[in-house]
Amino acid sequence: MEILRTVAELRHWSRECRSRAIGIEARNDGGNLIGLVPTMGALHAGHASLIRAARASVGYVAVSIFVNPTQFGPNEDYARYPRSFEADCALAQAEGADAVFAPSVEELYPPNAATFVEVAGLSDRLDGESRPGHFRGVATVVAKLLIATEADRAFFGQKDAAQVAVIRRMVADLRLPAEIVVCPIVREPDGLALSSRNLYLSPAERKQALTLSRAIRQAEASVASGERRASALIEAARRLFDAERSSFAAEPEVRIDYIALVDWATLQPVEIAAPGALFAVAAWVGSTRLIDNTILG
Ligand code: PAJ
Repeated sequence: MEILRTVAELRHWSRECRSRAIGIEARNDGGNLIGLVPTMGALHAGHASLIRAARASVGYVAVSIFVNPTQFGPNEDYARYPRSFEADCALAQAEGADAVFAPSVEELYPPNAATFVEVAGLSDRLDGESRPGHFRGVATVVAKLLIATEADRAFFGQKDAAQVAVIRRMVADLRLPAEIVVCPIVREPDGLALSSRNLYLSPAERKQALTLSRAIRQAEASVASGERRASALIEAARRLFDAERSSFAAEPEVRIDYIALVDWATLQPVEIAAPGALFAVAAWVGSTRLIDNTILG
């Protein structure tokens, strides 16, 4: 597995792969394609599932590891975001990555960089509403990564469902040639969605964090038994948070950021859970912000 540090190295790697793939152009198994798995490192089984999906779908797999400063707010966890480069490379290699792209901040953001990608209308919904500028940072770095890699396919987790909507829209609007592949949420056996930020949780917070996945399962069960009204689904989730919070008296606070039922493409609220609607929750557990979601129907 190659470790690439500059955009020029990444582009060179990608073009080498492509020239090797000439002659297998006629293959329809994706063997001639280049795949990108963008990450911020601190890799876990959720990231591993994306690398495996890429490995099974394209001939050449690059994993990017870059803690992107522009998607963090001024009071967020950029400085203390977990960094574990050696272990990340070992995981990427074990899952079959061909290259890891790990640039410096200056490499992706040259001094005085003034160009940003703004997906108007989506960037300020859900996580974008509580994290102003977050999706602008995400869209900008993913655009840079897709352009540098010249990837045919890029792999994202449904875990960050609003991010998926922003990126799909950006790729469509910029007519980037990459196909966006979305992979299911990987969970701990007790239901907690895997996240690099779970490392921040104390044992008490780790227990309380389960409220998010319980709220998701409860909404799925309600829809399965015929409930379709957003108001009822959201209210039931709120009640679950209230009930669990009071059962944990004296433990760290769990604070709802949002509970929403939206159209997955536009992130606009919907009143009825039509098939494909996104039910999403975000909550603070102590000082850690966690998210979870399900695609209903
Ligand atoms: P990061 O949080 O490292 O996540 C990288 C990818 O892994 C994202 O597509 C995310 O949805 C996916 N992922 C995380 N946890 C997952 C889980 N439990 N199951 C399935 N997939 C999971 O998302 C980012 O980084 C950044 O915003 C990035 C896109 C790299 C841009 O900086």
